[in-house]
Amino acid sequence: MIADVLGAPVSTAERFDDSADVALFPEEEALLGRAVASRRAEFSTARLCAREALGGLGVPPVPVLPGPKREPLWPDGVVGSITHCAGYRACAVARVSDLLTVGIDAEPNAPTPDGVLGAVALPAEIARGEALSAAHPDVSWDRLLFSAKESTYKAWYPVARRWLGFEDADIVLRPDGTFTSRVLVEPPVVGGVPLDVFHGRWLCRDGLLLTTVAVPAAA
Ligand SMILES: CC(C)(COP(=O)(O)OP(=O)(O)OC[C@H]1O[C@@H](n2cnc3c(N)ncnc32)[C@H](O)[C@@H]1OP(=O)(O)O)[C@@H](O)C(=O)NCCC(=O)NCCS
Repeated sequence: MIADVLGAPVSTAERFDDSADVALFPEEEALLGRAVASRRAEFSTARLCAREALGGLGVPPVPVLPGPKREPLWPDGVVGSITHCAGYRACAVARVSDLLTVGIDAEPNAPTPDGVLGAVALPAEIARGEALSAAHPDVSWDRLLFSAKESTYKAWYPVARRWLGFEDADIVLRPDGTFTSRVLVEPPVVGGVPLDVFHGRWLCRDGLLLTTVAVPAAA
């Protein structure tokens, strides 16, 4: 599924259950401590995906540990992102020579709980979502918006190294499987270019929504 929205030079891996045996590194095991079974399962399967995705770049398995804001830390020269939701775990990685950053997020294709949309969406996003829902009722556009915000944040954070609130990006979702996130706060400047617009892709399949953002490295 993820390979349909993120192809080369991005290396991806995904799982739809936690049936695979995963050998964690001691540092990863230590992080889990007394984590509940569901957290252990999602963390472990996501690490398996990370090892497979890194392998696709020719990078040997390493522990994938969190930084200060829970961002996954990658080997030198690699950028990447992890997602997990019920029934889905995935990882995407790329060489820094190819991508500046990448963010991925998966959600169930089901409406957000009451109150969530109002808390995460701008009025214009809500209005556009209503029109999209009327025209394409098979997609939970409110949940897709939420996911696009989270994948935007996962791509934003490793570059900006600061918070981006749900109200800080205006996201235009399109029925053709693309979206654009326009950042409404002062963006980081990379190589003289402000990182204020993120282009993403999305997919709705088998009860899941997947959003991805990949920013090419400067030429
Ligand atoms: C960080 C956040 C996006 C993760 O969302 P989530 O619901 O836990 O989603 P997922 O399960 O899909 O992803 C979890 C993974 O995100 C990654 N992640 C966590 N914090 C991160 C950060 N600051 N930067 C990049 N990736 C991060 C981790 O790899 C984590 O998996 P792991 O703990 O197993 O390593 C969410 O908790 C959050 O803080 N959201 C608020 C910020 C936001 O979304 N703003 C919108 C801007 S438009």
